[in-house]
Amino acid sequence: QPSPLASPSSLPGLANDRFLRALRRQPVDRTPVWLMRQAGRYLPEYRATRAQAGSFLNLAKNPELACEVTLQPLRRFPLDAAILFSDILTVPDAMGLGLYFADGEGPKFERPIRSAADIERLAVPDMETELRYVMDAVRTIRRELNGSVPLIGFSGSPWTIACYMVEGGGSDNYSRIKSLALNEPAAMHRLLSVVTDAVIEYLKAQRAAGAQALQVFDTWGGVLSPRMYREFSLRYMQRIAAELERGDGDQRTPLILFGKGNDPYLEDLAGSGAEAVGVDWTVGLDEAARRIGGRVAVQGNLDPVTLYASPDAIRAEVGLALDAYRDGNGGSREGHVFNLGHGLSPDMSPDHVAALVAAVHELSAR
Ligand code: CP3
Repeated sequence: QPSPLASPSSLPGLANDRFLRALRRQPVDRTPVWLMRQAGRYLPEYRATRAQAGSFLNLAKNPELACEVTLQPLRRFPLDAAILFSDILTVPDAMGLGLYFADGEGPKFERPIRSAADIERLAVPDMETELRYVMDAVRTIRRELNGSVPLIGFSGSPWTIACYMVEGGGSDNYSRIKSLALNEPAAMHRLLSVVTDAVIEYLKAQRAAGAQALQVFDTWGGVLSPRMYREFSLRYMQRIAAELERGDGDQRTPLILFGKGNDPYLEDLAGSGAEAVGVDWTVGLDEAARRIGGRVAVQGNLDPVTLYASPDAIRAEVGLALDAYRDGNGGSREGHVFNLGHGLSPDMSPDHVAALVAAVHELSAR
């Protein structure tokens, strides 16, 4: 059982605070980099720990093992942040939907949302009992990181979590949830509202446990029409940004809103109250930086498939992305966090990941 820690603000300063400085658009010596899914199956040591745990869920629910896999990529690569090893579907699992992983099929729920009555029964889970294992993982990781790099906590966006709750797993066309939104908008809003309440409590609890930045993954917002995106996804992320701001002292814990396919909404996201917007590779970083106009930091956005190319090609693409951001940001590299536009895949080469991380630091050195 991890020992309770002193409040995060009383812990010693960070040896590497590039990531937090970039999120605040402060000067840094190099552009910071971390990678979505930096802990995962592309690392043999991850596969070994997962085998020891028996399953992904056993791994995520064991704070010591979750801490171990969180730290594995940091032992290999000079990454500028750690991200909590967990999943966005822990929240609906704690709401009683019964998360499981069918082999090779991705996440599924035993009891998906099928009616307005199912939505009425949902309640915000208690963070320090039903999601205690997540908070214990955050506390354990903070202790083991020992001030080396900051720890990112995260949640899914309400829309993205609701997609899995209603579809019962992954989906090709989101027909169930889009039908719900169109046929019964009031019920859809009740669902998004209770999930948003849960997400806010979840992020606040991770922050209280020691997370030093927070990211919301809106993986499926981009499947919506602009009208429906604003009504069913953006609105709830704006509420998260507004409510996290309250009671967070003078040095606010930075919030990153990442979305696949969020290019049409960069101005809305930059005005949401979050510190940073995470983008995928379908928008150029020059255009993203120009449109965001220095209001918030930008995170992204190399196409993850670039990692299948040669280390030289990876290095060239990293250079182009760094320079595109600088060109769109008035000639300055400030306010950029380097990342992929989506997560790493299991068949990617750790050597190519090493080449990427080295290229970011070398080509952005001031
Ligand atoms: O980035 C990190 O290193 C932190 C860990 C993390 C995981 N999932 C671990 C994981 C994070 C941030 C997530 C978020 C997540 N989970 C999202 C949003 C980001 C995204 O990828 O769009 C989504 C949509 C999920 C839901 C989910 N969980 C899916 C679709 C899958 C199956 C993926 C697959 O490749 O099989 C998971 C399982 C999952 N979550 C794995 C990992 C490392 C694979 C686990 C395994 O089998 O070992």
